Amino acid sequence: MKKIAVFASGNGSNFQALVDAVKVGTLQAEIGLLVSDRSSGAVLDRAQKETIDYFCISPRDFADKTEFEMEIVQQLKSRAIEFIVLAGYMRLIGSTILQEYPESIVNIHPSLLPAFPGKDAIGQAIDAGVQVSGLTIHYVDAGMDTGPIIAQKEIEILPDDTKEELQKKIQQAEHVMYPEVLQELFS
Ligand code: GAR
Repeated sequence: MKKIAVFASGNGSNFQALVDAVKVGTLQAEIGLLVSDRSSGAVLDRAQKETIDYFCISPRDFADKTEFEMEIVQQLKSRAIEFIVLAGYMRLIGSTILQEYPESIVNIHPSLLPAFPGKDAIGQAIDAGVQVSGLTIHYVDAGMDTGPIIAQKEIEILPDDTKEELQKKIQQAEHVMYPEVLQELFS
Protein backbone atom coordinates (compact mmCIF):
# COMPACT_ATOMS: atom_id res chain seq x y z
CA MET A 1 0.00 0.00 0.00
CA LYS A 2 1.28 3.48 -0.92
CA LYS A 3 2.37 5.50 2.08
CA ILE A 4 1.34 9.10 1.49
CA ALA A 5 1.73 12.50 3.13
CA VAL A 6 -0.99 15.12 2.83
CA PHE A 7 0.12 18.78 2.82
CA ALA A 8 -2.55 21.28 3.92
CA SER A 9 -2.67 24.83 5.24
CA GLY A 10 -6.20 25.50 6.41
CA ASN A 11 -9.55 23.88 6.93
CA GLY A 12 -8.65 20.41 5.72
CA SER A 13 -11.99 19.26 4.34
CA ASN A 14 -10.13 17.47 1.54
CA PHE A 15 -7.76 15.89 4.06
CA GLN A 16 -10.85 14.64 5.92
CA ALA A 17 -12.33 13.23 2.71
CA LEU A 18 -9.10 11.29 2.08
CA VAL A 19 -9.03 9.99 5.67
CA ASP A 20 -12.66 8.89 5.37
CA ALA A 21 -12.00 7.15 2.05
CA VAL A 22 -9.08 5.24 3.57
CA LYS A 23 -11.29 4.21 6.49
CA VAL A 24 -14.01 2.77 4.28
CA GLY A 25 -11.46 1.16 1.95
CA THR A 26 -12.27 3.09 -1.25
CA LEU A 27 -8.78 4.61 -1.12
CA GLN A 28 -6.19 1.93 -0.55
CA ALA A 29 -3.34 3.95 0.88
CA GLU A 30 -1.80 4.74 4.21
CA ILE A 31 -1.86 8.40 5.29
CA GLY A 32 1.43 8.41 7.15
CA LEU A 33 1.75 12.14 7.81
CA LEU A 34 -0.02 15.49 7.61
CA VAL A 35 2.32 18.40 6.91
CA SER A 36 1.06 21.91 7.67
CA ASP A 37 2.85 25.22 7.22
CA ARG A 38 0.70 26.73 9.98
CA SER A 39 0.85 25.97 13.70
CA SER A 40 -2.94 26.10 14.13
CA GLY A 41 -5.98 25.42 11.98
CA ALA A 42 -8.86 23.02 11.62
CA VAL A 43 -6.77 20.54 9.66
CA LEU A 44 -4.52 20.00 12.70
CA ASP A 45 -7.56 19.32 14.90
CA ARG A 46 -8.72 16.81 12.33
CA ALA A 47 -5.33 15.03 12.31
CA GLN A 48 -5.32 14.86 16.11
CA LYS A 49 -8.86 13.51 16.21
CA GLU A 50 -8.01 10.88 13.59
CA THR A 51 -4.70 10.09 15.35
CA ILE A 52 -2.72 10.76 12.20
CA ASP A 53 0.88 11.78 12.68
CA TYR A 54 1.34 15.47 11.85
CA PHE A 55 4.15 17.92 11.55
CA CYS A 56 3.98 21.77 11.49
CA ILE A 57 6.71 23.78 9.90
CA SER A 58 7.08 27.51 9.24
CA PRO A 59 9.39 28.85 6.54
CA ARG A 60 10.13 31.78 8.85
CA ASP A 61 12.20 29.44 11.01
CA PHE A 62 14.62 28.70 8.15
CA ALA A 63 17.24 30.76 6.34
CA ASP A 64 15.80 30.00 2.91
CA LYS A 65 13.39 27.78 0.98
CA THR A 66 16.02 25.08 0.41
CA GLU A 67 16.63 24.63 4.14
CA PHE A 68 12.88 24.71 4.81
CA GLU A 69 12.26 21.98 2.24
CA MET A 70 15.28 19.91 3.33
CA GLU A 71 13.70 19.64 6.76
CA ILE A 72 10.38 18.58 5.22
CA VAL A 73 12.14 15.96 3.08
CA GLN A 74 13.92 14.60 6.15
CA GLN A 75 10.59 14.26 7.97
CA LEU A 76 9.04 12.54 4.96
CA LYS A 77 11.94 10.12 4.46
CA SER A 78 12.08 9.23 8.15
CA ARG A 79 8.50 7.99 7.79
CA ALA A 80 9.13 6.29 4.42
CA ILE A 81 6.62 8.54 2.64
CA GLU A 82 6.39 7.62 -1.06
CA PHE A 83 3.86 10.09 -2.42
CA ILE A 84 2.70 13.66 -1.62
CA VAL A 85 -0.90 14.85 -1.89
CA LEU A 86 -1.42 18.63 -1.74
CA ALA A 87 -4.85 19.48 -0.34
CA GLY A 88 -5.17 23.22 0.16
CA TYR A 89 -1.43 23.73 0.70
CA MET A 90 -1.02 27.40 -0.20
CA ARG A 91 2.69 27.41 -0.92
CA LEU A 92 4.73 26.61 -4.04
CA ILE A 93 6.66 23.34 -3.91
CA GLY A 94 10.33 24.04 -4.62
CA SER A 95 13.09 22.13 -6.33
CA THR A 96 14.31 20.35 -3.17
CA ILE A 97 11.04 18.46 -2.68
CA LEU A 98 10.41 18.08 -6.42
CA GLN A 99 13.79 16.36 -6.91
CA GLU A 100 13.12 13.89 -4.09
CA TYR A 101 9.60 13.05 -5.28
CA PRO A 102 9.64 13.01 -9.11
CA GLU A 103 6.18 12.44 -10.59
CA SER A 104 4.96 11.69 -7.08
CA ILE A 105 3.25 14.93 -6.06
CA VAL A 106 -0.32 15.85 -6.97
CA ASN A 107 -2.46 18.91 -6.27
CA ILE A 108 -6.15 19.78 -6.37
CA HIS A 109 -7.18 23.23 -7.55
CA PRO A 110 -10.68 24.77 -7.64
CA SER A 111 -10.82 25.84 -11.29
CA LEU A 112 -10.52 24.36 -14.76
CA LEU A 113 -6.81 24.95 -15.21
CA PRO A 114 -5.15 26.68 -16.99
CA ALA A 115 -7.96 29.13 -16.14
CA PHE A 116 -7.71 30.93 -12.80
CA PRO A 117 -4.47 29.62 -11.28
CA GLY A 118 -3.14 30.85 -7.95
CA LYS A 119 -5.02 32.29 -5.02
CA ASP A 120 -8.80 32.73 -4.80
CA ALA A 121 -9.58 30.75 -7.96
CA ILE A 122 -13.27 30.70 -7.05
CA GLY A 123 -13.42 34.49 -6.59
CA GLN A 124 -11.55 34.89 -9.89
CA ALA A 125 -14.18 32.77 -11.70
CA ILE A 126 -17.09 34.73 -10.16
CA ASP A 127 -15.46 38.06 -11.02
CA ALA A 128 -14.81 36.92 -14.60
CA GLY A 129 -18.51 36.10 -15.01
CA VAL A 130 -17.90 32.65 -16.53
CA GLN A 131 -20.77 30.14 -16.64
CA VAL A 132 -18.65 27.08 -16.01
CA SER A 133 -15.75 26.50 -13.68
CA GLY A 134 -14.74 23.34 -11.85
CA LEU A 135 -11.79 21.55 -10.38
CA THR A 136 -8.51 20.11 -11.58
CA ILE A 137 -6.27 17.39 -10.20
CA HIS A 138 -2.74 17.62 -11.62
CA TYR A 139 0.86 16.59 -11.12
CA VAL A 140 2.95 19.29 -9.47
CA ASP A 141 5.85 20.96 -11.22
CA ALA A 142 7.80 24.11 -10.36
CA GLY A 143 5.09 26.45 -11.66
CA MET A 144 1.96 27.80 -10.03
CA ASP A 145 -0.79 25.23 -10.77
CA THR A 146 0.87 24.30 -14.07
CA GLY A 147 1.77 20.58 -14.00
CA PRO A 148 0.29 17.88 -16.28
CA ILE A 149 -3.46 17.50 -15.77
CA ILE A 150 -4.76 14.15 -14.52
CA ALA A 151 -8.50 14.85 -14.22
CA GLN A 152 -10.97 17.71 -14.35
CA LYS A 153 -14.65 18.17 -13.57
CA GLU A 154 -16.87 20.98 -14.76
CA ILE A 155 -19.23 22.72 -12.34
CA GLU A 156 -21.96 25.02 -13.63
CA ILE A 157 -22.12 28.54 -12.22
CA LEU A 158 -25.70 29.78 -11.97
CA PRO A 159 -26.30 33.52 -12.50
CA ASP A 160 -27.05 34.19 -8.84
CA ASP A 161 -24.38 31.88 -7.37
CA THR A 162 -22.32 33.60 -4.68
CA LYS A 163 -18.67 32.79 -4.13
CA GLU A 164 -19.67 30.75 -1.05
CA GLU A 165 -22.23 28.74 -3.03
CA LEU A 166 -19.75 27.99 -5.80
CA GLN A 167 -17.11 27.03 -3.25
CA LYS A 168 -19.55 24.60 -1.64
CA LYS A 169 -20.38 22.97 -4.99
CA ILE A 170 -16.72 22.67 -6.00
CA GLN A 171 -15.62 21.31 -2.64
CA GLN A 172 -18.39 18.70 -2.59
CA ALA A 173 -17.10 17.49 -5.95
CA GLU A 174 -13.48 17.61 -4.75
CA HIS A 175 -14.27 15.38 -1.78
CA VAL A 176 -15.63 12.68 -4.10
CA MET A 177 -13.12 13.03 -6.91
CA TYR A 178 -9.79 13.33 -5.08
CA PRO A 179 -9.96 9.91 -3.38
CA GLU A 180 -11.25 8.30 -6.61
CA VAL A 181 -8.46 9.72 -8.76
CA LEU A 182 -5.78 8.80 -6.21
CA GLN A 183 -7.11 5.26 -6.02
CA GLU A 184 -6.83 5.01 -9.81
CA LEU A 185 -3.26 6.32 -9.70
CA PHE A 186 -2.25 3.84 -7.01
CA SER A 187 -3.93 0.73 -8.45
C1 GAR B 1 -9.64 23.38 -1.88
O1 GAR B 1 -10.82 23.82 -2.49
C2 GAR B 1 -8.51 23.28 -2.89
O2 GAR B 1 -8.98 23.02 -4.18
C3 GAR B 1 -7.90 24.66 -2.79
O3 GAR B 1 -7.95 24.97 -1.44
C4 GAR B 1 -9.11 24.41 -0.87
C5 GAR B 1 -8.73 23.79 0.46
O4 GAR B 1 -9.88 23.41 1.16
N1 GAR B 1 -6.55 24.65 -3.28
C6 GAR B 1 -6.00 25.67 -3.94
O5 GAR B 1 -6.57 26.73 -4.13
C7 GAR B 1 -4.58 25.41 -4.43
N2 GAR B 1 -4.14 26.42 -5.31
P1 GAR B 1 -9.76 22.41 2.40
O6 GAR B 1 -8.67 22.96 3.31
O7 GAR B 1 -11.12 22.47 3.06
O8 GAR B 1 -9.43 21.05 1.85
